[in-house]
Formats: sequence, C-alpha cells, structure tokens
Amino acid sequence: MKKKILNVVGTRPEAIKMAPVILALKNEPWAEVRVLATAQHRHMLDQVMNFFDIEPDIDLNIMRPNQALTTLTARLLLDLDDVLQTEKPDAVLVQGDTTTVMTVALACFYHRIPIGHVEAGLRTWDMDNPFPEEANRVLTGKLARWHFAPTEGARHNLLKEGVVDSEIVVTGNTVIDALLMTASKDIDHGIDLDPAHRLILVTAHRRENFGGPFRNICRALKTLAQNNPEVQFFYPVHPNPNVRDVAYELLGSQPNFILGEPMDYAPFIAAMRRAHIILTDSGGVQEEAPALGKPVLVLRDETERPEAVDQGVVKLVGSHFDRIIEETQRLLDDDTSYRTMARGTSPYGDGFASERIVKTLREYFT
Ligand code: UD1
Ligand code: UDP
Repeated sequence: MKKKILNVVGTRPEAIKMAPVILALKNEPWAEVRVLATAQHRHMLDQVMNFFDIEPDIDLNIMRPNQALTTLTARLLLDLDDVLQTEKPDAVLVQGDTTTVMTVALACFYHRIPIGHVEAGLRTWDMDNPFPEEANRVLTGKLARWHFAPTEGARHNLLKEGVVDSEIVVTGNTVIDALLMTASKDIDHGIDLDPAHRLILVTAHRRENFGGPFRNICRALKTLAQNNPEVQFFYPVHPNPNVRDVAYELLGSQPNFILGEPMDYAPFIAAMRRAHIILTDSGGVQEEAPALGKPVLVLRDETERPEAVDQGVVKLVGSHFDRIIEETQRLLDDDTSYRTMARGTSPYGDGFASERIVKTLREYFT
C-alpha cells in the first residue's frame, strides 16, 4: 500500500521551495504524490508550477483581488474540509509561513493528519514583524509532526519553544535545491539593460512596510536613482495593489528606474546574477543572493534569517530614508566594502535539502 503524501503550495515562494521536494518524492516507489494548490497567488504560482512541470491535482483558486487575511483564512478552511475528507492523506507537507501554511496546518490538526513543516523554526520573536508571517510559523510549529529546519539556528529556535529534538531534522533550505536546478539552465533575464551600466535589483512586498515605510523606501530609491544616473535600477513590482500603486506613483517617472511585472523564476535568477547590488524585503531573495555572491541590503529592521547577516554578506537597512541611501551609496563607491559583501557563501543550504526531507519520510513510512 502506497502512502499518500499531499504537498501544498499557495504562493510563489512556496511553489519554488516545494518543487524540489515534490520532484524528489515522485521518485519514491512507496509514495503516492498529490499536489494541492490553494492558489493564494494565481499568476505568480502558475508560472513557477509550469517551470518545474508540476500539475496540481487539486486547485482551490482562492485568490481574489486585495483579499483580507480573515476572508482568505475562512474561505480556505471551508474548502480544506472537503479536500481532506476526500483525499484522506497519510501526511501533508507545507512550506514556510503564509496564510495557506497556517490554515492547512490547522485544518490537518482538526482532521488528525500529520503535518511536515518545510522551513521550520525561523523566528524574529516579534509577532508584528513580519506580519502576519511570524504568527503563521509559530502556530504551524505548534501543530507540526516533522519540523524540517533549514539551519542549526532554526533548530535551536524550535527547541527553545519546547519542540522535541527527535521531531526536528536540519535539512538546509530547499530554495538552494531549486536555485541549483535552475541556475544550470542558463536562461536569459530578458530585461533591456545597457551592458555598460551597473544594475541595482529591487524587490519589496511586505505587509508591515505598507503605507509610510514603503513610501520612504520608494523615496530613497528615487533619490539614489537621481544621484546615480549611470546606474540602472530594475524593480519587478509585486501585484499586491498596496505595493503596486505606490511604486508606480513614486518611481514611474524616473528614467533610469525600470518598473516591470513580476518576473518568471528562471529569468529572475538571471537578473540576480546580472545585478551589482540587491535591495529587498523578500525572504527567498535573502537566501538566494548570498549563494550567487551578491550583496543584499534588506529593507526591514529585523530578519528571521540572521546567518547571512552574521557572515557579513547581508545588511539590514530597514525602511529608513537616510540609511538606505547611505549603505547603497557606500557599496557603489567603496570597492572594499563591496568585495567584503560579494564574497559568495551559502549559509542556507547545499542543494540536498529535499533529499533529507524525503529520507525522513521514507524511514517513517517504510
Ligand atoms: C503573500 C504572503 C507572504 C509572502 C508573499 C510572497 C501571506 C499573508 N502573505 O503575500 O508571506 O511573502 O505572498 O510573494 O500569506 N496578487 C495578484 N496576483 C498574484 C498574486 C497576488 O494579483 O499572482 C494580488 C491580489 O490582489 C492579492 C494580493 O496580491 O489579493 C495579495 O496577495 P496575498 O497572497 O494575500 O499576499 P501577498 O502580499 O502576495
Ligand atoms: N522571484 C521571482 N520573480 C520575481 C521576484 C522574485 O521568481 O520577480 C522569486 C525569488 O527568486 C525567490 C522568490 O520569488 O525565490 C521570493 O518570493 P517573494 O519575495 O514573493 O516571497 P518571500 O520569499 O518574501 O516570502
């Protein structure tokens, strides 16, 4: 009798980080692999699933324009009742800290189905930052049966919360598995850039930055672009209207600042490789960029990913106008500072995280 493993994806980063796990599980003779897309993201999710050639078996198509978190959670819980009753999986795998993850964990708890949490144990210890992700991962951590922690630091966080050591496996982050699978394909970024100019790549979408902080970030980016006309800026804007409208309002008219649609995953990796510096509030980008040898300035005051900060290749600059300008300008002007941060190191994984996750499940189920 095969064991049915239901793999859940909701948003772009979940798809990127679950794809290597799903593909590895498909090689296991004991596993019946099922894929549930909540489709909390639509276009951004579909694009990644197509790239990795993974077809969801169930698609809840839950995304609505600018949907409130409570509505999203309530609609998901109702739909999940039906899915879990029909599917009756032996285990469910979720990844990260989105509303999809927390809601699926809760629904599985009610249905007495064991949960494996991929990327477990990330903490800032501040429930408001990032919002609502810190709460999502703490709640999921309380309910999970297997905690696949990317780093030793994440394992220690879980131990501190009372998780039993035997239920934690340090695996590395599957984002590096996906990165290595993708980087080897040598796909072009497709952005119209002047080869003579340096590129600053920007991504920003966090809810705790909505409003004033995000406006500060955009104003600082505009000033940097005005002060450095020989540098090109590129920002593939997240479709969340709270981000999109402000980005186009404040940055849309700056000639050396290109705004674009969210990029497909492989071209985005190519854009990171082409970039001189990356400014971001993304979790995944903080993990990928150090492995590609790119300095990262994080547009947040705290991070649940301290390893690259400790190694000196990522720096927190928050949403502070002066600090964003000062630290970016330093990297543009001071070669020693730049080279220190562009060393290339991969504290988040070695490319074998999914193998370790699958091994744990294999040993449990066979
Ligand atoms: C979500 C996650 C966040 C993660 C981010 C990755 C939650 C609460 N937030 O944030 O942790 O870092 O995804 O990108 O789970 N939209 C589209 N098309 C898409 C995707 C989104 O139009 O393909 C728009 C819709 O109007 C949607 C809105 O963006 O309602 C917000 O999407 P949502 O998933 O709620 O939050 P994100 O800000 O994307
Ligand atoms: N990414 C992408 N296209 C883009 C921007 C980011 O494919 O235009 C990828 C990036 O390589 C990373 C992931 O999306 O793997 C990060 O997703 P996001 O920043 O939306 O979410 P977070 O990681 O902050 O949860």
